[in-house]
Amino acid sequence: MSSTVEIKTRTIRQIRERKGGEPVVCLTAYNTPMAEILDPIVDLILVGDSMANVVLGHANTLPLTLDDMIVHAKAVSRGVKRACLIFDMPFGSYEESREQALRNSVRVLKETGCVGVKLEGGRYLAETIVYLTERGVPVMGHVGMLPHYVNQRGFAVRGRSNAESDEVLKDAIEIDEAGVFATVLEAVAEPLARNITRSVSNVTIGIGASAACDGQIVVTEDILGLTPKTPSFVRRYAELREVITEAVKHYDADVRARLYPADEHTYPLDGKPKAKS
Ligand code: KIV
Repeated sequence: MSSTVEIKTRTIRQIRERKGGEPVVCLTAYNTPMAEILDPIVDLILVGDSMANVVLGHANTLPLTLDDMIVHAKAVSRGVKRACLIFDMPFGSYEESREQALRNSVRVLKETGCVGVKLEGGRYLAETIVYLTERGVPVMGHVGMLPHYVNQRGFAVRGRSNAESDEVLKDAIEIDEAGVFATVLEAVAEPLARNITRSVSNVTIGIGASAACDGQIVVTEDILGLTPKTPSFVRRYAELREVITEAVKHYDADVRARLYPADEHTYPLDGKPKAKS
């Protein structure tokens, strides 16, 4: 366990104050180098449990453990000085009782330097959210399409019927009243996202939920072109899979042709490698 955790300078209160104002810019990170790149630019970094699919090769987020997430959250935290850093509580780490949620969230805040936790789920979590926020744990909610419910509901977009919209809206309002500082709206049809954003006092952060939200989040690897499949709501800003493939092919060719390492990469008996002439 690390002995100290640094306080990040972008606070929960600053994020909250952006309701209806300049959109809150959020991205995911799972390791130090990515966190260092994102930190000077974005407002909020989420150590997302999407790590299960994106970097650990699982088919969904269910297998991820709290211990797995904590290792990565500590790594992200080492690269973050400024952004508001939030920890995504994995499946099974908070649903059992408000006491379980508090115990695990307190561990997360103590060990990782994250300043809040995200709890995925609807209004059944309201009591837990009150319990945590009254005890000093800021909570971000997550409604709409819920990856933890993949075995019951799949990955369908939410809010395409009145009955379903009413359900998701109720979830969003009840967790708002319970005290979340922000709510992720995932894969939600635009009219519902607009309605929720108007109806709640916390900042809504959309992922596949339209520009009507108070902010946006996406999986960083998706916008960078590192993931093999891109969801339809994602704009790719780079094609890093192609860049990496080209670089690795170049390295492969150089090694096979003995062009790498060259003199400038080779330690002589003493001193540094010879500079390239
Ligand atoms: O795990 C994750 O990355 C998330 C975001 C997509 C919101 O929950």
